[in-house]
Amino acid sequence: MTISVVVLISGRGSNLQSIIDAVLRDALPARIIAVVSNQADALGLERARRAGIATRVLNHKDFPDRGAYDRALRDLVDEYAPDLIVLAGFMRVLGPDFVDHFDGHIMNIHPSLLPKYRGLNTHARALADGATEHGASVHFVTRDLDAGPVVIQATVPVQDHDTPDALAHRVLQQEHRILPQAITWFAENRLTISGNRVLLDGENSPLQGLRLPTEH
Ligand code: GAR
Repeated sequence: MTISVVVLISGRGSNLQSIIDAVLRDALPARIIAVVSNQADALGLERARRAGIATRVLNHKDFPDRGAYDRALRDLVDEYAPDLIVLAGFMRVLGPDFVDHFDGHIMNIHPSLLPKYRGLNTHARALADGATEHGASVHFVTRDLDAGPVVIQATVPVQDHDTPDALAHRVLQQEHRILPQAITWFAENRLTISGNRVLLDGENSPLQGLRLPTEH
């Protein structure tokens, strides 16, 4: 089945591009029906336009508080009635007005091996901790920030003399693999949320911790 997807972004949009490319390769049974940004100058909007995808901007600064923004965003996304909403570098925390409405239908890509390093500056924090491995996670979005059930993770070894930028670059390459993979599983109806875990094909073994091998 081909699912309809709305992608939310705030900036560069390289993860959005990985989804667009997977759809174009016929590797992902999805149709991106709109890209929504909270930043009018997000580069990702240009990527969407180039791919012929409808774009919308909803700037959080135009709203008096977080709840008002969440409700306006919910109503905007509802116009498209998507099967799935993908947060691909969307740098706003979404509250219950949005999250509860689309419960089980929102995925986020986060640049760390959750539950480690929720929030911002994940690469610098991993380096400051002396972590030997780092990575990225795709998870379903719940009310708790970066704490929803994990669909898939990819690991990246930390190298001697790594910098946050160098590490971010290598993690991003993995993000571009696991986000289309997670969306594909969703489209194929192979994911089940069970408590705070995700099952693939109903298997009891939790996907949390399932990792793709790192490419060298
Ligand atoms: C990605 O690294 C993504 O994981 C991260 O922002 C970057 C967006 O890059 N998201 C978060 O930190 C969410 N808390 P992109 O715009 O090139 O996809």
